[in-house]
Amino acid sequence: MNRKILIVGSSGSIGLAFTKYYSLDPNVERIVTLSRGPTLITDKKIHSISFDYNDEKTYVNIDEILQLESIDKIIIATGMLHESDIKPEKSIYDININSLSKLYKINVFGPMLLIKKLLPLIKKSDAVKIIFLTARVASIADNELGGWYGYRSSKSALNMMIKNLSIELKRISKKHIVIGIHPGTVRSKLSQPFLGHVKHEIFEPKKSVELMGKVIKELVSEDTGKCFDFSGSFIDP
Ligand SMILES: NC(=O)c1ccc[n+]([C@@H]2O[C@H](COP(=O)([O-])OP(=O)(O)OC[C@H]3O[C@@H](n4cnc5c(N)ncnc54)[C@H](OP(=O)(O)O)[C@@H]3O)[C@@H](O)[C@H]2O)c1
Repeated sequence: MNRKILIVGSSGSIGLAFTKYYSLDPNVERIVTLSRGPTLITDKKIHSISFDYNDEKTYVNIDEILQLESIDKIIIATGMLHESDIKPEKSIYDININSLSKLYKINVFGPMLLIKKLLPLIKKSDAVKIIFLTARVASIADNELGGWYGYRSSKSALNMMIKNLSIELKRISKKHIVIGIHPGTVRSKLSQPFLGHVKHEIFEPKKSVELMGKVIKELVSEDTGKCFDFSGSFIDP
């Protein structure tokens, strides 16, 4: 099938697991990765490119991807919940412009500007699946605990961007599909400080990606613009 896949955030736990997963797929011919840190897998199918949403100099590296003849999947597995000076807010008293700006930049603005840059490649491709890693906590309907103002709301904003993008890309080709997917609670740098409180199953990245891989494979055009979880269940935004 000679499929070509772009994975953004391949230095992260879920991004790396996606990279490994598709490297084992005989239908996949080429995987291009964009990441800030190193992608800890080498395979002749994989071509890694350095990229940081916060470093404009690295945006020029995207030009190389535009040389591809076409792309079949774009998986955006980047995201931020905390950093040395950012902690998820427990109360409105904790919000501040520094952390809100950083969270929105990594979770919403960066990914959308990247897609804008990739539009020439998307437009010359027949059917592209664009998959954004979102989070169940972004669901307004599902929010009963409050807190995590910046992370929750940035992912809710991402979900709106996903919907908008799906509408616009449908006008270019009915075969393009854009979705958000919640990976479950997955062991990673991002989730690590909070795993002690989790009562449900914690997935290893490999397990989460195997489940999401099945959902991604079975997507149909009616799914575009929606958000799903790792089991394929629709998430009410
Ligand atoms: N783990 C979970 O339980 C869980 C639950 C719900 C949703 N998610 C979502 O799943 C996605 C992947 O998260 P993960 O669990 O795999 O976390 P992770 O291991 O921390 O991966 C996050 C990725 O984002 C990248 N990133 C952060 N800042 C960046 C920047 N300025 N420029 C470019 N890349 C940057 C990281 O790069 P570095 O490697 O260089 O830091 C890393 O590749 C995120 O969108 C997250 O919100 C995760």
